[in-house]
Amino acid sequence: MTHAKAPGKIILFGEHAVVYGQPALAVPVKDFFAEAEVLDINRAGIWISAPDIGLHEELSRLASENPLATLVEAVFSTLGINSPPSGGCEAVSSPDTRRTEWGRKLDAKNGIEIKITSTIPIASGLGSGAAVSVAIIRALSAYLSSPLDDEKVNEIAYKVEKIHHGTPSGIDNTVVTYGKPIFFIKDNPIELLEVATPFTLLIADTGIPAPTKKSVADVLKLWEQNPKKMNALFAAAGSIAKTARQAIEGGHPERLGALMNENHRILQELDVSCQALDYLTEASLNAGALGAKLSGGGRGGNMIALSTKENAPAIAEALYIAGAKKVILTEVR
Ligand code: PMV
Repeated sequence: MTHAKAPGKIILFGEHAVVYGQPALAVPVKDFFAEAEVLDINRAGIWISAPDIGLHEELSRLASENPLATLVEAVFSTLGINSPPSGGCEAVSSPDTRRTEWGRKLDAKNGIEIKITSTIPIASGLGSGAAVSVAIIRALSAYLSSPLDDEKVNEIAYKVEKIHHGTPSGIDNTVVTYGKPIFFIKDNPIELLEVATPFTLLIADTGIPAPTKKSVADVLKLWEQNPKKMNALFAAAGSIAKTARQAIEGGHPERLGALMNENHRILQELDVSCQALDYLTEASLNAGALGAKLSGGGRGGNMIALSTKENAPAIAEALYIAGAKKVILTEVR
């Protein structure tokens, strides 16, 4: 059996603008995570089981555009295995013993089960899709005795993000793969972010699931209607992300509060906030948060609030009173 774990994530600054080439900041959140296990089973085929979503199916019976099927097939093809065996096994005619062993392992009686579990809420801006992908890629490639490096893991996870989101920037898969705070610009080399002074964030869930694909598509429509205005909003978000990076790396996290408020206003103008997000944001500020904003695709999902350690419990309580379904306290370091 092999096993791998991948964290959730939050976007601190720059969501949506990042799709249009602006910088954004994101951090992993290890308080929740996805896990994948690959087990030998006495049954033919490659079985994917995700009890959380009621899935237990043999790979060949999943639709070809199914993200999990795409993912498993991408791992096989990256490792040079022609096609994932189903039922019986066909190993590629390769002199590589690893692949021959893989071929021998799977036959009419013996297969594998890829079991996925996750504590990350789905469609809530916390990187659940990317974390599931990264955990599977790592567990499966390790099972095949060829653990993939971060760059390859990220590449495959991005491919699958495209199925989930349409035109993703790649920020989710990157932060989840590297498991470290990042300063991210689409199609640019990854830059890790040095957190000079740790800071406390509250992450509050509206409980409203909201697919990122839809909000990204709606922002695109707005951009098509008024590119000049939208580009100016994106550029403002990008410049906030740059200033935030300086604050984080310079040891002044308290300066992030005003920047979060400003970024939230931009996201409201992009029409990706909603009543519940605005309400939680207001409630946290009224309870003493230093700044607050929605995080991720918006229209539901989660918001984040910056707090001192001392004030965090009172802000968490205010968030629950204001209707948050779950509040997590996390330290960014
Ligand atoms: O997956 P989410 O909901 O955290 O959103 C991703 C962030 C967006 O900027 C909205 C989309 C993207 O691909 O960067």
